[in-house]
This record gives sequence, C-alpha cells and structure tokens, in this order.
Amino acid sequence: MMSLRDVLKRAEVNKVAIGHFNFSDLVAFNAIVAAARDQELPVMVGVSEGEREFTGVQQAAALVRAIRDEYNYPIFLNADHTHSIAHAEEAAKAGFDEIIFDGSALPFEENIKQTKKAIEAIKSINPAILVEGEIGWIGASSAVIDKVPEGVGVLTTPEEARQFVDATKVDVLAPAVGNMHGMLASMVHGNVQKRLNIERIAEIKASAKIFMTLHGGSGTNDDDFKRAIKAGMTIVHVNTEIRIAWRRGVEAGLAAEPNEVAPYKILTPAVEAVKKVVSSRLALFSSK
Ligand code: G3H
Ligand code: ZN
Repeated sequence: MMSLRDVLKRAEVNKVAIGHFNFSDLVAFNAIVAAARDQELPVMVGVSEGEREFTGVQQAAALVRAIRDEYNYPIFLNADHTHSIAHAEEAAKAGFDEIIFDGSALPFEENIKQTKKAIEAIKSINPAILVEGEIGWIGASSAVIDKVPEGVGVLTTPEEARQFVDATKVDVLAPAVGNMHGMLASMVHGNVQKRLNIERIAEIKASAKIFMTLHGGSGTNDDDFKRAIKAGMTIVHVNTEIRIAWRRGVEAGLAAEPNEVAPYKILTPAVEAVKKVVSSRLALFSSK
C-alpha cells in the first residue's frame, strides 16, 4: 500500500490532483468510496472538527481502515480544519493520515507559533502523519452563504508562503489564491463561479516548494481547477457541493417514498446524488 506522501508525490509529478471530500455519515462516505473505486483513483476523505464530533473520531478512522483492509485501497483520512492541539493529538492517536492545523484566523506570527507546536505534538505521536498549515483567510464554513465573508479575497504572497514553510516545516500548504469556503446562492444556481489566480498559485508553488492544497473547491470554474492543478495544487477539497447533493438526495428519497421507514431505502437517492458529484470532480482532477 502506497503512503499518502507517495501518492501525492506521484500526483505532483503527473500534474494531477487527489480529490479530498468531506463526510458526516455513511451516505456520503459510501458514495465517495464507490465513486473512487469506479475510477480506480486514490482518494482522501476528511472530517472537520464539527464533522468528527458527529461521526466520532475513532469511528471515522475505523471506516477508512475497513475500506483499506477489505480492498487494499488507497484511501486516506484527513483531520480537516483542526483548531486545537488537543484535537490534533486525538486524530493522530486515532491513526489519521493527515492533519490540517488551521491557524489561518490568527495573526501571521501567532499562526506560525501555533502550527509549530501542533507539528511537534503530532509528529511525536506518529512522524509519518502529514501536517498541513493554512495562511490567508478564505472563510470558515462549507455552507450556502449570503455574501462573501469579510477579508476574503486577499491573496497569499509567495514571500509569506516561503516564510511560513521555512519557519514551521509543514508538509503541505493551503494558501489563499482566490478560493473561498462555501457557496453563494448564485454559485449554487450556476450563474457565478469561483475564479482562481493561477499565476499566483504558480508563484507560491515556486517559492514554497511543497505540496499545496486548494480549499473551497465547491463552485469553482472547471478550467480554473485544471489550470490550478497544473500550476501546483496537488490536493483539492470539495465539501459544500457534497452537502447540497446530500440534502437534495434525502429530500428526493423522502418525497418518493412517503410511507417508507427503512433508512437504507430512503437514503439510496442521496448516495447516488453524492456519488455523481464526487465522480465528476474526480474525473476532472485526475485528467491530464
Ligand atoms: O476543507 C474543506 C473544503 O475546503 C471545502 O470547501 O465547501 O467550498 O467545497 P467547499
Ligand atoms: Zn477547507
């Protein structure tokens, strides 16, 4: 079984990206696994602090382990947007492959200080875990939002990126490059798409020289995705699109079977809806 680091190295060389999809339940988890297995692609699944409070930290790790063991499948688990050292340590002990220590809301120097502490704590539990750090503000929630959150839109500079990477020694960097967490209603309707600063991505990659993650993937222009991956993004996160598909699928399942009480029958359209989103994103991120 290849390690996450090796899978990322290979993707970086081939100028493709590994899709990272969040889940809160078995509907989304099984849909993500089915989509990845259909295309025989490595995949990352993530649980934020809120998501893993719902799934359970050990339970999320056990789900991923079960797929790995049963199919010898390259699926990797990320502790998404972790804000405290205690939560990072909990995920490290549970066997997560990657932990994102998200200090992006802190002043830059404090972010460096906290991220360094987190890395020390995580690597002392398991040095093989990849630690991702975040700089720049891109908003905080994978939700349908009314307006662009204040402060979003300021791009990370190549100098900041290098300074952060040199000082912290993170394995993966998440910069702000025009991306944003969540979707405006206009993005859900498809009238507006997120646009990325490709030139800046290439400059940051040249300066930071490490793996980079594009957060806030939902609602991004397809061509920008492709160009961002070519310019140096090796992981792409998608969540809001999955949550919307999940909700629509659940609503469709309930509407189709008003008298049904078996969850696995009601929830089948939700699995299909999430699988469709993940399949199309995986195909895009892996195409050359
Ligand atoms: O970490 C999660 C992602 O960055 C999700 O962003 O909800 O805009 O797709 P998104
Ligand atoms: Zn994110």
